[in-house]
Amino acid sequence: MTFLVPLLPAEPELQPAAAQLAERFQLPQQHCGEDFVLELTRDGLQLRWLERPDMQPLMLDYTRGRQAWRQQLGSGRQEAIVRAIGVARGMRPRVLDATAGLGRDGLMLAHAGCDLFFLERNPAVHALLDQAVLHFQLHQPNDHWRRQRLHVLGAGSLLEHDPLPDEILDVNPDAVYLDPMFPEREKSAAVKKDMQMLQQLVGSDFDADGLLPIALELATYRVVVKRPNKAPFLAGQTPQSQVTSKKHRFDIYIKQAYPKIT
Ligand SMILES: C[S@@+](CC[C@H](N)C(=O)[O-])C[C@H]1O[C@@H](n2cnc3c(N)ncnc32)[C@H](O)[C@@H]1O
Repeated sequence: MTFLVPLLPAEPELQPAAAQLAERFQLPQQHCGEDFVLELTRDGLQLRWLERPDMQPLMLDYTRGRQAWRQQLGSGRQEAIVRAIGVARGMRPRVLDATAGLGRDGLMLAHAGCDLFFLERNPAVHALLDQAVLHFQLHQPNDHWRRQRLHVLGAGSLLEHDPLPDEILDVNPDAVYLDPMFPEREKSAAVKKDMQMLQQLVGSDFDADGLLPIALELATYRVVVKRPNKAPFLAGQTPQSQVTSKKHRFDIYIKQAYPKIT
């Protein structure tokens, strides 16, 4: 489900820059009654949910707050997602995050050493992600891993193309990571505010089952699927292995073992 979200300046001086960004991300430049708007502020892009003025606009910023804190954990190798992808001494998989969303899981993997390629189909979420990654890379230009390992592909989906475009095929990923929106998440009161906004914007990914066979074809070694603990397997397909965390399960579909590094 894709809603068009207009991209507007938060103040008149930002009109030219907002128009440029709207053109680049192919977003409308006028509000026609949509529930959401992307606003360009002096601090960057933010997503505002107009029906919920009680909610802070969502501004993705990987340089502050919880996300910055998580990176101070070091390489993050103890994180369930990092173990599921199979990061190990000498093994830093090249990962296609094919349901990128707010990019938080992908950032964790990149920080742990993976080369990370983000693919997101919702144009507004893609714009937020693209600008947040750019800001993160420019924020500390001497932190070279940020530029070397983080890549945002053009807005799109593994499901929309047959055949897949070269931009996706060229990634040639060792692993594909999938975290489609799970319908039941909508009912949970514990869902964080930014995730609530994302859910409202993108809806439930009812076509998610179709991602697994394509991901399995694309990945050289494995596909990892994040699911809520009690959710059924994606596409009803039993994984070969799992890593669990407090709320989630990472189902691991192995095509072949990673090469042994001696
Ligand atoms: C649950 S969120 C992902 C959250 C993400 N793992 C993170 O850490 O922020 C799911 C995202 O996947 C996107 N998505 C779902 N199906 C997709 C598809 N077939 N292709 C590209 N993006 C997809 C949705 O638009 C949504 O932004």
